[in-house]
Amino acid sequence: MVGIRALQKIWMDGRLVDWTDAKVHILTHGLHYGYAVFEGIRSHDTARGPAIFRLPEHLDRFFNSAKVYRMTLPYSAAQVGEACVDLVRANGVPTVYLRPIAFSGYGEMGLDPTKSPIQVAVAAWEWGAYLGQEGVERGVRATVSSWVRMDSRSLPPQAKCAANYANSGLAKMEAVAAGYDEAILLNSQGMVAEGPGENIFRVKKEVVSTPPASSGILRGVTRDTVIRFLSDEGLVFQRTDFTREELFTADELFYTGTAAGITPIREVDGRRIGDGAFPITRRLQQRYEDAIHGRRPAYGSWLTYVG
Ligand SMILES: Cc1ncc(COP(=O)(O)O)c(C=O)c1O
Repeated sequence: MVGIRALQKIWMDGRLVDWTDAKVHILTHGLHYGYAVFEGIRSHDTARGPAIFRLPEHLDRFFNSAKVYRMTLPYSAAQVGEACVDLVRANGVPTVYLRPIAFSGYGEMGLDPTKSPIQVAVAAWEWGAYLGQEGVERGVRATVSSWVRMDSRSLPPQAKCAANYANSGLAKMEAVAAGYDEAILLNSQGMVAEGPGENIFRVKKEVVSTPPASSGILRGVTRDTVIRFLSDEGLVFQRTDFTREELFTADELFYTGTAAGITPIREVDGRRIGDGAFPITRRLQQRYEDAIHGRRPAYGSWLTYVG
């Protein structure tokens, strides 16, 4: 397999199976029509062993995504949560990315997904910072995409549906082909929405802002984590729309996401952001590292220990 090192087990439809046996039929409905909802979660090493970060919040979003798509999962949130914990334990690797997915399986073809059985799986693999460790340290170069973020009248962005990621993929490929690390998508009103797989924050004169949920974004768990950090840091925070030009004039910009962590943006379309020092982003990165590794008792309730 290219790029992914196999671990031992994948949880699939209620049991742990060997990595190589976690297969589906080519006529799996969700593969053809994008009818799948998923999550991205991480477990990290702590002094008390592996711990999954904000598992209940991810499960909550997973089941809400399914609800939007009238998808009834044959497992409860508690069972999927248990599957995540069991999987981390079974694979014996503390630091992994977890991918719960529910999809319309092998049944009927055609556009009515309710005719196919819903399958659920959780896979885990080792995945470094999505935009690279160098990106986390030095910042990444971003471009505003010519692709518009889909909105809730077409594909509801707050539901983490596989189909949304065709829009993300178009933006990502365009950015990479133009020599950038990542894209920034505007919404259909022309305001900044988010990255293809990350939320975005702006710092200007010590005021930190991020687009509201109504701007057509996924409500990120890391976004929520950072909002809590901002309050704990005593920083002024606003949920507010901002424009493309307000990206260029920011003192700091950063992406947030389970995959990307907190990654500074050092350039947007050839404009250097701030002076490249990112003091507030650095403080938030430090707090995040401490929280996920169990070094801040104040955030201890965000950790589910695998045991
Ligand atoms: C489109 C999109 N926006 C934002 C995020 C960040 O969400 P989270 O912080 O919950 O990983 C993600 C990642 O899941 C995403 O795919």
